[in-house]
Amino acid sequence: MIELKNVRKSYDGGRSFAVSDVCLRVNRGELLGLIGESGCGKTSTLKMINRLEEPSSGEILVNGENVRRQNAEQLRRNIGYVFQGIGLFPHYTVAQNVSAVPELLGWSPSAVLDRCRVVLDLVGLPPTQFAERFPSQLSGGQQQRVGVARALAAQPQLVLMDEPFGALDPITRADLQDEFKSIQRRLELTVILVTHDMTEALLMADRIAVMKQGKVQQLGSPTELLNAPSDPYVRKLIEMPKQRADRLDQILAAHSRRGATT
Ligand SMILES: Nc1ncnc2c1ncn2[C@@H]1O[C@H](COP(=O)(O)OP(=O)(O)O)[C@@H](O)[C@H]1O
Ligand SMILES: [Mg+2]
Repeated sequence: MIELKNVRKSYDGGRSFAVSDVCLRVNRGELLGLIGESGCGKTSTLKMINRLEEPSSGEILVNGENVRRQNAEQLRRNIGYVFQGIGLFPHYTVAQNVSAVPELLGWSPSAVLDRCRVVLDLVGLPPTQFAERFPSQLSGGQQQRVGVARALAAQPQLVLMDEPFGALDPITRADLQDEFKSIQRRLELTVILVTHDMTEALLMADRIAVMKQGKVQQLGSPTELLNAPSDPYVRKLIEMPKQRADRLDQILAAHSRRGATT
């Protein structure tokens, strides 16, 4: 569904690069987690797929066709995109935010309205309550739900998400992760989910690509990464959630022992 072949994005006339020699393939209906620390090239990679940025070299295929040969605006309208930091239009209501792309695609007003109601319900925002609100009248979690609804509005098969749950409190984040995963399975969406949180990647992704300094260090299923990490960085990243969970278990066990003896 998506294929990146030796993709490079350089700046300053080639002196520095954001992405170097990246090869990736995302299968239809798969959720690929793209993980790595801040500045490693995740956003740049995502933006080249829907041509918000152009690669300096290499090829990107979507549905088997080179994106350079596709009209950039049309391509973007057919790919859902959840921006890092939400990025809702502040002067548009929830309904206007969600309807923007279907309207650009020329859907009839009644089809736009129907779809708007369906996707708002899908992300747990009853339209009667939320459709006419502005983003400033929503909590962070609700805004993020609108971001997801907007990305799904034009019924894309392909959705790119840039740290969609990064800014949320832990409970809201866990709820949204679970809900989005079930939506993704149900609609058989192909998704690239950018995150810097390995727990999120392990919970949501079918396969995980670990990026470091503009390169993909390893791409594999969570089990493959756990059993055969390609280098110490991948090992550290993949073992972190389990280590934290074990440490928490120890702390909680110690507390409950203390509670039992007093
Ligand atoms: N327009 C730009 N000009 C120069 N450098 C850039 C530009 N955009 C991104 N970069 C650099 O490319 C690297 C990767 O950025 P980005 O893809 O945003 O990383 P991430 O999303 O993983 O945090 C960073 O070092 C960043 O400073
Ligand atoms: Mg980023």
